[in-house]
Amino acid sequence: MNGISFKFDKALNFLSDNVLENNFSIASIALSDLLNGKGKGNDFLGWVNLPNDIDNYLLDSIEESARVLRNNCDIVVVIGIGGSYLGAKAVIEALNNSFDLLQKDRKNPIVLFAGQNIGEDYLFELQELLKDKKFGIISISKSGTTTEPAIAFRLLKTQLENQAGKEVAKKLIICITDKEKGALRILADKEGFTTYVIPDNVGGRFSVLTPVGLLPIAVAGYDIRALVNGAIDMKNKAIVPSTDNIAIQYAIIRNELYKTGKKIELLVNFNPKLHYIAEWWKQLYGESEGKDGKGIFPAAVDFTTDLHSMGQYIQDGERHLFETVITVEKSTHSLLIPHDKDNLDGLNFLAGKNIDNVNKMAELGTCIAHVDGGVPNLKIVLPELSEYNLGQLLYFFEIACGISGYILGVNPFNQPGVEAYKKNMFALLDKPGYEEESKLIKNKL
Ligand code: PA5
Repeated sequence: MNGISFKFDKALNFLSDNVLENNFSIASIALSDLLNGKGKGNDFLGWVNLPNDIDNYLLDSIEESARVLRNNCDIVVVIGIGGSYLGAKAVIEALNNSFDLLQKDRKNPIVLFAGQNIGEDYLFELQELLKDKKFGIISISKSGTTTEPAIAFRLLKTQLENQAGKEVAKKLIICITDKEKGALRILADKEGFTTYVIPDNVGGRFSVLTPVGLLPIAVAGYDIRALVNGAIDMKNKAIVPSTDNIAIQYAIIRNELYKTGKKIELLVNFNPKLHYIAEWWKQLYGESEGKDGKGIFPAAVDFTTDLHSMGQYIQDGERHLFETVITVEKSTHSLLIPHDKDNLDGLNFLAGKNIDNVNKMAELGTCIAHVDGGVPNLKIVLPELSEYNLGQLLYFFEIACGISGYILGVNPFNQPGVEAYKKNMFALLDKPGYEEESKLIKNKL
């Protein structure tokens, strides 16, 4: 089956000659360290073999749990933050009808997300919405101790138990967490909820191909086996040490652009369904590479929407940017621009053309303009939006991230910087055990 491809010809003018050949040795060592577990953070490399490690038994079980929620709920709330929600959100948004929430005659429950913020209004309004609704909960936290999802779970679990009764609620709450530690594991075991395990050696942002991503995606009605097959096929290509390997190409080129001062990578889409793929990608690359005072800053824009807000800066502002465009070759639906007898808007020259044809010309025109303006352009091409292609894309970004982080010289699999805000927040909230920190931080106020 054809899959995704990667093009970098519109970046070559910004790079030295033979960029792939000259950097192949360091990239192939990075790849081999990933595959052989010899690099930094090698206790978190479980994601490398994840697509092959997912067995039929686990897939059957996830599909069965999804069936229970699908048959009994109008709404399923997925509770989680960071790597515990972005992968599922990204895949579901990419495949869903753009107006999913307003679809009538639904075959699938509406999947909503909570625990990804501490918004009082968000949670209040969610609770109002769920009043008298048939809903279920998937509560996800690898550590089992993260504040945002814990608050949301405390609220929604109580609401579900009050609305449906404890016995029914027990069937409609599924927890995904560590196999033995953390508050969520203790609570789930005590209450007798169905649980799935996030393997010890898979970090949050690399967990989309575990039950963390697969269960919500299956609940939303999508084919998780095709997603996994896409990842397997990409893995088979991405583990080959060759300058034709697109993960090696992407990792080399983004690091070389970084060295020339291109310190910001904009992930660009021309399809609004990909907005959350970019959010997932931002976490993957930002948390993996942004450390030790280095790392490309991952940002994202939705085109053509943001061409009318950010376009000026990208074309003409400080030249520290490069773009990676995710392009979808074929739309799922076909829609032609109609002829109009008065032609007051002057659009009859487009009559009879597909909307996507206009979009593709916008994409091409933007690429040429931005390259002319000093913004190198990389391109990832998806034949169409499908579970299989998204599986390829997710694994491509993961393995390229591992290679890229090793080329950069960081440990791509830790996130020490995430702890700083938590420590301060707990100190300010007078959490037991944080007495010293509380005194110190209050002196700073
Ligand atoms: O990538 C990571 O490890 C983090 O972003 C986590 O996914 C996030 O902080 C949520 O953590 P947890 O799943 O432990 O609640």
